[in-house]
Amino acid sequence: MSFTLAEARAADAADPLRPFRDRFHLPQGLVYLDGNSLGALPKAAVGRLGRVIEEEWGEELIRSWNSRDWIGAPQRVGAKIAPLIGAKPNEVIVADSTSVNLFKLLVAAAGLSDRKVILSEAGNFHTDLHIASGAADLLGLQLEIAPRAEVEARIGADVAVLLLTHVHYKSAERFDMARITAKAAEAGIVTIWDLSHSAGAVPLDLNGAGAELAVGCGYKYLNGGPGAPAFLYVAEPLQGRLLSPLRGWMGHAEPFAFTDDYRPAAGIDRMLAGTPPILSLAALEAGLDAFEGATPARLWSKANALFDVFHGLVEQNCPELVCITPRLPEQRGSHISFRHPNAFEICQALIAADVIGDFRAPDVVRFGLTPLYLGFEDLWQAVDRMAAILRDGTWREPRFAVRGKVT
Ligand SMILES: Cc1ncc(COP(=O)(O)O)c(C=O)c1O
Repeated sequence: MSFTLAEARAADAADPLRPFRDRFHLPQGLVYLDGNSLGALPKAAVGRLGRVIEEEWGEELIRSWNSRDWIGAPQRVGAKIAPLIGAKPNEVIVADSTSVNLFKLLVAAAGLSDRKVILSEAGNFHTDLHIASGAADLLGLQLEIAPRAEVEARIGADVAVLLLTHVHYKSAERFDMARITAKAAEAGIVTIWDLSHSAGAVPLDLNGAGAELAVGCGYKYLNGGPGAPAFLYVAEPLQGRLLSPLRGWMGHAEPFAFTDDYRPAAGIDRMLAGTPPILSLAALEAGLDAFEGATPARLWSKANALFDVFHGLVEQNCPELVCITPRLPEQRGSHISFRHPNAFEICQALIAADVIGDFRAPDVVRFGLTPLYLGFEDLWQAVDRMAAILRDGTWREPRFAVRGKVT
């Protein structure tokens, strides 16, 4: 390999983010390249959850809503996401799943005009398209799905909402958020950005880009744990004009007045619906606290260094794999994907060799390059094992063709 194990170790020793790795539990011998799907466990989450369960739930019981500010958790945790996405603390709130938040924002945004079209990208993450089709049916709107290369050309006066994923879940291709948001706004369109594969790795400046609405997952680069609640961003000027279709009591101006009428809370709080999931919020907060001291610029420069090393090693040692992720940093996110007709089997053989990536149908093997806790030696080890699997044809063993429910 052109990038030797000794060079990988030297790069790790010189990495200013290296100390952050100690904030995570990474199983011995395992190379974890799936942090863009489920972030690793922040060590602090273990103690934090223990305390919330034993002291706050166990001892303090229902008093904790006030005494431990459980009730303020959606806003407090949202404010910790804000600096990672270039938003003000009062513009981000944590609630529900990305799918549900998307539904709330789509319906609310569509209500701002009498236009009839929701526009999105063919091959967008399927939940986004499914949620948009449901919202469109409900509202009597039309969902138009344009090929990626034609989305911009389709921007027009009949479009109410443009729904795009900033970094594509499969290819990692990245849209130019500032340019597209501006172009859409000029045509009177509100854009909703799905930041699931961006937040926590890719530099984001929602305020600078003029972004009005966004959602994103808490369990990927933000390390909030399996099924962590998602986040939702509404730019300040829009907050008073949006109405959530899910008018739950937590989004009411006075939830504890118990009135029959619905009066939306001021600001982004109106986007809440039900009771906040305190245990999950505590885990997500620990995940976000693990970013303390790591600037977005430093994270991105590490992500780029990881990308270049991994890309170079695979190109040289696994030529059967065809990279579908753009090389240029401004055109991509922080994962890298390759096409191969037997991507599923290769992925399974890799997992058996303690290298975890994931498979995306029909023929893509995908690797998350999480800048907060991955090292260069991890990448060297992963490619060394993958090259052996391809060279020896280990992936052809029948056991690697068996598919589970989750891929
Ligand atoms: C781009 C994107 N949006 C949304 C989701 C799903 O989010 P949730 O499960 O929180 O609804 C995912 C999950 O991988 C995703 O990749």
